[in-house]
Amino acid sequence: MDLLIRGIGKLVTPVGNGPVAGPAQGRLRVLEGAYVLVQGGRIAAVAEGPPPSFPGPTLDAQGRLVTPGLVDPHTHTVFAGARVGEFLARARGEKYTGGGILTTVKAVRAASEEELVALARPRLLRMLQDGTTTVEIKSGYGLTSEDELKMLRSIRRLEEELPLTLVPTFLGAHAFPEELPREGYLELLVEEMIPQVAREGLARFCDVFCDRGFYTVEEARRVLEAGMRYHLSPKLHADELAHVGAAELAAELSAISADHLLHISEAGIEALAAAGTVAVLLPGTAFVLSEPYPPGRRLIEAGVPVALGSDFNPGSCPISSLPFILSLAVLRLGLSPEEALCAATLNAAAALGLAEELGTLEPGKLADLVIWDARELGELPYFIGHRLALAVIKAGEPVWRSSGF
Ligand code: NIG
Ligand code: FE
Repeated sequence: MDLLIRGIGKLVTPVGNGPVAGPAQGRLRVLEGAYVLVQGGRIAAVAEGPPPSFPGPTLDAQGRLVTPGLVDPHTHTVFAGARVGEFLARARGEKYTGGGILTTVKAVRAASEEELVALARPRLLRMLQDGTTTVEIKSGYGLTSEDELKMLRSIRRLEEELPLTLVPTFLGAHAFPEELPREGYLELLVEEMIPQVAREGLARFCDVFCDRGFYTVEEARRVLEAGMRYHLSPKLHADELAHVGAAELAAELSAISADHLLHISEAGIEALAAAGTVAVLLPGTAFVLSEPYPPGRRLIEAGVPVALGSDFNPGSCPISSLPFILSLAVLRLGLSPEEALCAATLNAAAALGLAEELGTLEPGKLADLVIWDARELGELPYFIGHRLALAVIKAGEPVWRSSGF
């Protein structure tokens, strides 16, 4: 797709093909009175000044703010059923233990692949309308070979059908199913599920919920090493409910990301910095669960590349709006709007191994971008809960426009 976007008031983008850390995370490129030229779905030019004459379709940004499309590096968007009762019980003061995961497992086992696709489709379209153009989605509510594969196949079908980049992650080690002894399920994961997932090419990453009441560090290491033997790159749900040393394990395995980190230790922070592992922070979960926020500012100061995600799931975080997550990052994690944008674009792409392909507005990258009803970047976190995306462009194609724009 070829396209010229002109009339851009302010274009704000991180720069580079890999994760950025420390002070660099807040240093973005800002262009005023700019245009973006797209050829074959990729960015051909980004510059200030009058646009070149262009015979193809043109979109006038009418002086608004343009950023890269947002990248959500951690979601559980494929699920069946809802857990409103659990949500309301927590609103009355009950603690989240993760036990509700098995409620969703029952609902997912009862659903067909077609039903999972039909349920996830409108969720993904809502994310797109909030400016998200790339979404990672985890399995983990099946907990049998058949049901885990069903979840991953539904992600593949959604990717074929929707104008979004979807990145599938195998999270068979999300919980332990009731019908098997612990060791029996671990063997199933390592001997059967991981090889099958790899054989069908259904996932890029292998993730484990390494936390109090879930997988121990030793169990997580065993599952992730099995994944690595099948070229599934490791990721971790790390130290969300308690400090168990999961961040340290992520660093030991040179995992691409360690996610959550509400209870990360100082040693864990140092280990992530040394390993170059991306910290994927999910402040929506802390917000919903009334838990302490992860130490965003401290991680940036320690030189850990910080990314942001929604963690959209039916239990701990029914939030799918990344602009709302940007608000939480600025208000509760101590990030600047610049750091937060970098966290939800380039660093999020890096957490998915896609930083060479997307996450910034630079020549050669996929032309994924958003025109916002804003004049400056700070308005995105400031107008909390507003839906500011005016147009969303995926690979050079305007795939969503707000009425009247
Ligand atoms: O990322 N922490 C584990 N998994 C999800 C919650 C899943 C659920 O409660 O259904 C999370 O928060
Ligand atoms: Fe999660």
